[in-house]
Amino acid sequence: MDYTRRRFLQTSLGALAGAATTGLWPLSGRAAAEHQVELVAQESMINLGKGPEFKAMAYNGQTPGPVLRVREGQSLSISLKNRLLRPTTIHWHGLPVPNPMDGVPGVTMAAVPPGESFAYQFRARPAGTYFYHSHFGYQLDQGLYGALIVEPDRAVGGWDREEVLLLADWVVADGGGTARVPRRPAMGGMMGRGMGRGMGRGAAAPGGPLAEPYYQGYAVNGRLYPHGPPLKVKKGDKVRLRLINASSSTIYDLSLAGHRLTVLALDGQDVIPKDFDVVRLAMGERVDVQFIADNPGAWLLQAHDSGLGESGLALAVVYQGAENRDPVGPRFHPGLSLATYWDLAAARPVAHPTGPPRRIYRQVLSGGMHSPYWSINGRLYPNSERLAVAQGDKVRLSYFNRSMMPHPMHLHGHFFRVVNFALPPERWLVKDTAIVEPMRRLDVEFIADNPGDWFHHCHHLYHMEAGMANLVTYTKA
Ligand code: C2O
Ligand code: CU
Repeated sequence: MDYTRRRFLQTSLGALAGAATTGLWPLSGRAAAEHQVELVAQESMINLGKGPEFKAMAYNGQTPGPVLRVREGQSLSISLKNRLLRPTTIHWHGLPVPNPMDGVPGVTMAAVPPGESFAYQFRARPAGTYFYHSHFGYQLDQGLYGALIVEPDRAVGGWDREEVLLLADWVVADGGGTARVPRRPAMGGMMGRGMGRGMGRGAAAPGGPLAEPYYQGYAVNGRLYPHGPPLKVKKGDKVRLRLINASSSTIYDLSLAGHRLTVLALDGQDVIPKDFDVVRLAMGERVDVQFIADNPGAWLLQAHDSGLGESGLALAVVYQGAENRDPVGPRFHPGLSLATYWDLAAARPVAHPTGPPRRIYRQVLSGGMHSPYWSINGRLYPNSERLAVAQGDKVRLSYFNRSMMPHPMHLHGHFFRVVNFALPPERWLVKDTAIVEPMRRLDVEFIADNPGDWFHHCHHLYHMEAGMANLVTYTKA
């Protein structure tokens, strides 16, 4: 049954709503397969649990926006209403949606003007942890994001608790990331590391890109520690955390004091589960972890060095009976095991065509030194080159980071595989965002199976807006 008809049936059922008709139409779970949501983008006064109220941007009055939870294969129909004073769009980060639904202004759609609406419609698949966010200007750093969870069609797991934790960096002032606050000096090249705080020169030349701000707080689900609700557990609980880094510029190294974290999935795609002390999460990345509550007490899930003291990112994990204790934070030391891409492998072998890639694109990432601009192959979006692909191609992107900053590179519309010569290709990680560490190389491969023009960029918002982006374009074979 196509979904238009199914919708009609639901509607007529609703119209007939009355005891007599109930049961006439034995609607199974499948019949309720369309999930409809309205997201209203609007300036809203918010607070992060402490500190002043300030004006940010929010979906339905809240930041993060509502958690969208759907079943794999379900049709999602989202009506975006723009009540902002600026245009906006929504991008479904990580989900390979049809190109016109991808939400990149000027590439896949015209931005939705103030006062107008847009209906996004697509099927949610494959299962995994995703998020949605505005792709217009700096709105991602002003509060326009939310979690999008696609549950597997078949129940798996058996967790006693599952929590979605969305991490965000905040400038606590009207306008969020665009507020008039001190900004970091351009970093990178050979100069980067030595430059200290306070040397920011604010915005670049008028009309130029904004530099990254100094953040004042790091929130979990919109709350600064210790003002958010703790995660309450009982001894013996098996807990799943879906961590989403919706931050604009911050990479977190996270540990849970008193416990190890079992990595279950990266960017929503299952890996062979493995235990670590620390997981690293860059902007745009998601990691699903599990822990067994076998060490009663009050603990912190905390990011290393993500800020100073109380302004750092943390969440209390409190066992029943330990409610009155002061949470203990993790101790970071060099002996801890960090989950890197090279320590993990795809859980289900994924067929990856053998043979050399049909196209190889070298992507040199640079910028920062004495410059507010960030480039790929020396060029700035929208004047960057297009990466031409044809349907069915195996395409390799070879990143060379020639700067002193990490760049989490994100490709829209596709999953890519992280090339790892220590593993057979069918075990390569399936991701949509991957960190290219300073002065390092990283290769990814994808199959061109979703036609259109697709945005490809660094997920550091201030790098993206400063030019570090280009387009993957499908041409006739
Ligand atoms: Cu989170 Cu261009 O995307
Ligand atoms: Cu970058």
